[in-house]
Order: sequence, then structure tokens, then C-alpha cells
Amino acid sequence: MRRQERVSVLGVEAVRPYSLLRVERAGLDPGVPGQFFMLEAPGRLLPRPMSLCLAPPRELAFLVDPVGPGTRALCALERGDRIAVFGPLGNGFQLDVERPLLVGGGIGLAPLPYLSEALGGPPALLGFRSSGHAEAAALLPQAEVVVDPVVVTDVLPADGWDLLACGPEPMLEALVRLQPTAQVAWEAPMACGFGACYGCAVEIGGEWRRLCVDGPVLTCLGARPWDQASLDEEQAA
Ligand SMILES: Cc1cc2nc3c(=O)[nH]c(=O)nc-3n(C[C@H](O)[C@H](O)[C@H](O)COP(=O)(O)OP(=O)(O)OC[C@H]3O[C@@H](n4cnc5c(N)ncnc54)[C@H](O)[C@@H]3O)c2cc1C
Ligand code: FES
Repeated sequence: MRRQERVSVLGVEAVRPYSLLRVERAGLDPGVPGQFFMLEAPGRLLPRPMSLCLAPPRELAFLVDPVGPGTRALCALERGDRIAVFGPLGNGFQLDVERPLLVGGGIGLAPLPYLSEALGGPPALLGFRSSGHAEAAALLPQAEVVVDPVVVTDVLPADGWDLLACGPEPMLEALVRLQPTAQVAWEAPMACGFGACYGCAVEIGGEWRRLCVDGPVLTCLGARPWDQASLDEEQAA
């Protein structure tokens, strides 16, 4: 059940090159892995969407990549600061899979530790753009890690796995080309997070859909956020 709470920051730890922001859980439900929360970013008008990374008892933890003013403000929070947190929001991963393989790219690692815990620690494959970024793989100790120019699709095992993935668009598109049933956590800029503003509208199968309510996790057989016709042509070729 989603709700908004003002919660205390318990700490911000470096998980290089990212930051792990830990807040008290208070009355918030951690939700299903892949769901997200809107976090108040001090000094910014709009909250920022963040996937839940870990849910230790009485805490919620978010892995934040400081890419702009909002995420930098979140990384600059200090123990005892208070922020508004709203969620859980959107659709998470479907967990009734037989042979899960988690795939992450860069900050797409964020929802995977909580997902891994929910699935009993399945195999995982992570790709990063540098060995410095790859230090964050410590959050998912069982993962096989590749660094550019090797990419996750270069080392993806043969068919027979249920892929659950989060990462940059080109990585997700490549995974879905290889396995159309993959579950992928998609991203779009979001303002409200609960369907009211249409700021996150993306074209899925020829229709405009709000990613915050129809995603962020999409199962691609029924909903592809890129051109359906070109995918079908490639698969037929
Ligand atoms: C459902 C969801 C879950 C997310 N989970 C995480 C997470 O766990 N950890 C994390 O670090 N980030 C996550 N993000 C992305 C994060 O919300 C954005 O990076 C953040 O809002 C950027 O805010 P900013 O003010 O720091 O930078 P801005 O100045 O707003 O943006 C910096 C750059 O990133 C682009 N950008 C901003 N938001 C998005 C977006 N959602 N998709 C694509 N490009 C964007 C902007 O166009 C700009 O080029 C998530 C996004 C979504 C939609
Ligand atoms: S973020 Fe407002 S409708 Fe999706």
C-alpha cells in the first residue's frame, strides 16, 4: 500500500561511484522488487524516482548515481536530515519465474540486490563502463562482472533463462532482441510517479502509456517501448 512519510536519513555510504542512501522505513511498505519511490530532493521542486535497492529491517536503502542537481542533493544528505518519501509505486518484477538470471548495466544494478534476496540469490550478470564503476558490484556478490568493451550480451549464457533486467536502453533493447520474454525495468523522467501528470508517457505497442503506472517493469511480449515493426522484422530475418 503506497503512502507518503517524512523519514529520517540513517546514513549515506559510498558504494563507488554511487551512494547508498539509507532512510528509516517508518510506516512505508518496501513493496515488490522493481517498484520505486519518489524521494524529496532538498532544494528541488520535484521529487526524484528511485528503485528500492535493499530493505533491511526498519530501513529502506536506495543506490543513487549523482548525475544532476536532484541526485547530487540526495547524495549530500546527512544522518538526521529528514525527507519525504512516497511509495511503493508502479509495477515490479514478476517473481514466479523458474530459472531467473538477473542482468544489470551501470546504475541499473540498483533494484537487483532486493530482487536477488526475493528470489533466493539467483545467478547475476553485471556490466559496467569502467573498473571503477564495477566496484559497486560488491552489492551483488554472486554476480559475474564484465567491463566495457565487453558487454553483458557478449557473455549471456545460452537460452533457457528467465531474464530480469535493469540498465541503459541499448542494453535492454539488445536483451529483448535475444529474449522477447525478458522482464525489463524501463526509465523515463517522472514528475508525479502515480499517473497524474503524463510526464512519463512512452509509446508502447503503438499506444501512449504512463510508465509510472504501466511500468517501470515491462514484460516485453505484450509491451515493447520501442518500434514493434522493426523488432518483428529483425526477428523474422
Ligand atoms: C522508475 C525509476 C527508477 C529509478 N531508479 C534509480 C535508482 O535507483 N538510482 C538512480 O541513481 N537513478 C534512478 N533513476 C533515475 C533518476 O531518477 C534520475 O537520474 C534523476 O531523477 C535525475 O535527477 P537529477 O536532478 O539528478 O538530474 P537531471 O538534471 O534531472 O537529469 C540529469 C540527466 O539525466 C536525464 N534523466 C533524468 N531522469 C531520467 C530518467 N528517468 N530517464 C532517463 N534520463 C533521465 C536528464 O535528461 C539529464 O540529461 C530512476 C528513474 C526511474 C524513472
Ligand atoms: S510521472 Fe506523472 S504520470 Fe507518470
